Amino acid sequence: MRQWNLVCFFLIFVFSLQAEEVPPGAAIVSAHPMATRAGFEILEAGGNAFDAAVAVSAVLAVVEPYSSGLGGGGFWLLHRARDGHEVMIDGREIAPLAAHRDMYLDSKGKVVPGLSVDGPLAAGIPGEPAALAHIGKKYGRLPLSRSLAPAIRAALEGFPVTPHYQKMADFRLRALRASPAAARVFLLDNKVPPVGHVIRQPDLARTLEALARQGRKGFYQGAVAKRLVAQTRKAGGIWHSADLAGYKVIERKPVTGRYRGYRITSAAPPSSGGITLLTMLNVLEGFELDRLSVARRTHFIVEAMRRAYRDRAEYLGDPGFVTIPQTTLTSKAYAEQLRDSIDPDEATRSEDLKPVATSGSGFHTTHFSILDKQGNRVAATLSVNYPFGSGFMPEGTGVLLNDEMDDFSAKPGVPNVYGLIGAEANAIAPGKRMLSSMSPTFVESANRLAIIGTPGGSRIITMVLLGTLDVTAGQSALDIVMARRFHHQYLPDAIQFEKGAFDEDTLAELQLMGHRLNPLDGTYGNMQLVLWDKNKKRLTAATDPRGEGQAAVQ
Ligand code: DON
Repeated sequence: MRQWNLVCFFLIFVFSLQAEEVPPGAAIVSAHPMATRAGFEILEAGGNAFDAAVAVSAVLAVVEPYSSGLGGGGFWLLHRARDGHEVMIDGREIAPLAAHRDMYLDSKGKVVPGLSVDGPLAAGIPGEPAALAHIGKKYGRLPLSRSLAPAIRAALEGFPVTPHYQKMADFRLRALRASPAAARVFLLDNKVPPVGHVIRQPDLARTLEALARQGRKGFYQGAVAKRLVAQTRKAGGIWHSADLAGYKVIERKPVTGRYRGYRITSAAPPSSGGITLLTMLNVLEGFELDRLSVARRTHFIVEAMRRAYRDRAEYLGDPGFVTIPQTTLTSKAYAEQLRDSIDPDEATRSEDLKPVATSGSGFHTTHFSILDKQGNRVAATLSVNYPFGSGFMPEGTGVLLNDEMDDFSAKPGVPNVYGLIGAEANAIAPGKRMLSSMSPTFVESANRLAIIGTPGGSRIITMVLLGTLDVTAGQSALDIVMARRFHHQYLPDAIQFEKGAFDEDTLAELQLMGHRLNPLDGTYGNMQLVLWDKNKKRLTAATDPRGEGQAAVQ
């Protein structure tokens, strides 16, 4: 009998090892129809979700130049169905070797406006090309030449300008005009091009071809690298060839935790996403959110946001440079302490929390989610930071450089373009990765799987939080991406919210509790969500109606 039990146990064990449930189809959702289509093209050519992720990333790099690109970086969260292997591919930019902590300060120690945002000095060393080569080679089935083909085609044949493109280009007109190569590609006679005008990028096609032919060497060494360095330096940048040659992709263990029966898998540092998300979820687990009035529910969520963002400012940075108290910050015990400090009736003032020790909009940046028929998954958030990054394109490369250096804390306590403050942990240092908010995430139970993420700067993590709460409350994919949003980031001490997020009574109640309210003029975020309801065997995908994306299930 005992032997029989053992055999049964062994069989169940082997079965559970192999038999991850397979989805009823494949789903891809991204911020641009051409990228979603490219993903399916690669799946149909025999690629898996990881090959499709390479194709989608590369096409987005071409058709959404204001969001991400070869000159930028990102985080790709992967789940391999065969063995359940989960990993975060860290293709975040790094500070050039010649960077130093005070490089954006003037002689009086004040931050020089614009220096970390516009032009070549704002650019970190790109990580996306290395990440794509790494993902293709280690996890894909197809050669890079196949998975990059749709992007090369898109660069040569072009893509049409949309109203959204116009808005982004208009916002960054000055920075684009300052770079002759960027202005030639992205503007028409130095002006924002009309809707329908086709943007072709032959130089970028050549750079992509070099990557397709030679893998990472095609970008980080040889002719492309030479040009990138020479042109960047000529325009006042500080890059060296050693910066490019030395760039390394890092495979990181994702941050994981549990929330009310759901397993949460999210971005590891140098993203602040996973840790901040888990701190908030752990705090909120102690409240019966579904049973509360909207005002009280919002109050508790905001108080969780306030506390988690305070910790983000103090403790988080590149784990290669600082020691992060990750176990504490993501523990249930720590969350209980934070929860105990919340007054159920009254807003805490951020200035009354322990100050951050300073000893020392959401349509740019892009997210996509993929699930293939085998159950492989990718959640990826990619960025050049500000719309069109630094606006600077080294001549002859087609590569628009990021301005991710602004995600460092240029000076302790001085906010960056997203109003985020930071401390020593996120100070600039050569070769260091700047702290990010990008939070590609899996939310999973026995019955439901969500692959979720969004752009939105500092608001990314709170959007993923609200999305996660909605997933666990059983809402539909469309309802989740459509939901009106609110955000609190410790400082400034105010609830930012989209119009329509709260009714008048709720606003009055929140105000009575002492919350400062900051209604936003526009909307924010561009969430892309794949949702698989395993019980109902239903696979859906939804793209944020605020953007121009496309969701498809096949
Ligand atoms: O890594 C970060 O957190 C930022 N560079 C992301 C920027 C962003 O999402 C802009 N979107 N609106």
